[in-house]
Amino acid sequence: MTTQNKAWIEEYQKVVVNWGIEPDWVLMRYHQLVSQGPVLDLGMGNGRNALFFAELGHAVDCVDVSKTWVKKCQERAKAKNLQMTAYNVDLRSFEIPKRHYSLIIASKVLQFFIKSDIKALVEKMYHGLARRGLIYLQVFSLEEFEYYLKHKREIHLVEPNTYYVPKYKLHYHFYTKEEVLSLFPKLKVIHCVEGLESDLRFKKPRKEWIINFLGQRIR
Ligand SMILES: C[S@@+](CC[C@H](N)C(=O)[O-])C[C@H]1O[C@@H](n2cnc3c(N)ncnc32)[C@H](O)[C@@H]1O
Repeated sequence: MTTQNKAWIEEYQKVVVNWGIEPDWVLMRYHQLVSQGPVLDLGMGNGRNALFFAELGHAVDCVDVSKTWVKKCQERAKAKNLQMTAYNVDLRSFEIPKRHYSLIIASKVLQFFIKSDIKALVEKMYHGLARRGLIYLQVFSLEEFEYYLKHKREIHLVEPNTYYVPKYKLHYHFYTKEEVLSLFPKLKVIHCVEGLESDLRFKKPRKEWIINFLGQRIR
């Protein structure tokens, strides 16, 4: 094992122990690339990624349509004495200020939208980046459709790779790696990997087919 790997593993363990709920490992791996400046987390849920960056000293804004998650995330921030601003709105109507953020995160949220929403959102995200700003996406891949959705009783195909599930009243879009790479053609790709991940916090490890993308604005 190289010294560098050892150091990273130690840092990873420290973060996992501190947080209980760990941030995405890709963000932990590359956080040094995020320059000083504000961070935006879209659909932050429990805030595992947002609060990680708040702890690193970034001003953090986050957005979630769920009142419950906004409250939980605010409580976690307060308990850790961290500053962050949480907006309880649909991210499609959230105005992202131009050239503002050092990092914009959309982790496991872009699956809920149809193509036209994704297009508009991606445009806003790109313009919200400051110079050298980064965009991080974690999305579900087409493999996850086979694994998670294909066998459900009632699903309606509404667009290529996008389904509507009446039981949940939700859309699910599944991404290919090519599609992910085409979302932000002007960004320099730092990381784009598709694969199967297992979440060991569950008795029967939950498996998910995902694509992680990290890209950087160069102009
Ligand atoms: C699967 S969770 C992911 C949470 C977090 N980003 C993470 O990676 O752990 C999806 C989150 O997106 C939020 N969400 C779904 N649709 C949304 C919308 N239209 N606007 C804002 N948030 C939304 C949900 O409330 C939920 O907190």
